[in-house]
Amino acid sequence: MKIKNSSFVISAVSKKQYPEDALPELAFAGRSNVGKSSLINMLLNRRGLAKTSSTPGKTQLVNFYDIDGLFRFVDLPGYGFAKVSKTQKASWGKIIETYLQSRENLLEVFQLVDIRHKPSGEDKQMYDWIRNSGFSGIVIATKADKLGKQQIAKQMKVIRNELQMTPEAVIIPVSASDRSGKYQVWDLINQIFEV
Ligand code: GTP
Ligand code: MG
Repeated sequence: MKIKNSSFVISAVSKKQYPEDALPELAFAGRSNVGKSSLINMLLNRRGLAKTSSTPGKTQLVNFYDIDGLFRFVDLPGYGFAKVSKTQKASWGKIIETYLQSRENLLEVFQLVDIRHKPSGEDKQMYDWIRNSGFSGIVIATKADKLGKQQIAKQMKVIRNELQMTPEAVIIPVSASDRSGKYQVWDLINQIFEV
């Protein structure tokens, strides 16, 4: 797939702000700071399209990005960020949940996990939800530039085990810093649209 144009559509607080057409959407879910927004920029070759920050909690709403008028990427707020109030947590949780549970356009959800860490309880919950909702259960392991080759292989096994991934389920190590994994992710996206 050769992308010509990508653009920001809307940052939605509530369902009524979601785009109204029937374009398919691919969503990126994962903990705060795992690198969801950075991955979207990497995939689209757009440095500042999705806002990123070294402080967790940058993306707080559901952000839609149009790709050549054919489909959309959806950047979700992160979960599991300890340093916010209970009220704030509940509000982000609700925003993620509303999108994931009600969006008919949603074609696939990618679960992002930091390659250096064992998936958290919330990661497991999210992954179970993804599988139980009938999505493929594709995992993207971020920040691969932080580890050597052998450690990457080891961590992929840890993540597979912790999330109880099936042997067919795909896990791709990526890095928004050195741009590794970009073509594997695009191959996967192409496959999703070809079936
Ligand atoms: P929230 O919006 O808070 O949920 O976070 P996010 O998942 O969108 O993370 P974001 O893309 O904003 O990245 C968080 C931090 O991690 C930033 O400082 C990024 O520069 C850094 N980061 C993201 N991806 C990578 C990566 O592949 N390698 C390295 N080394 N740093 C990364
Ligand atoms: Mg973000």
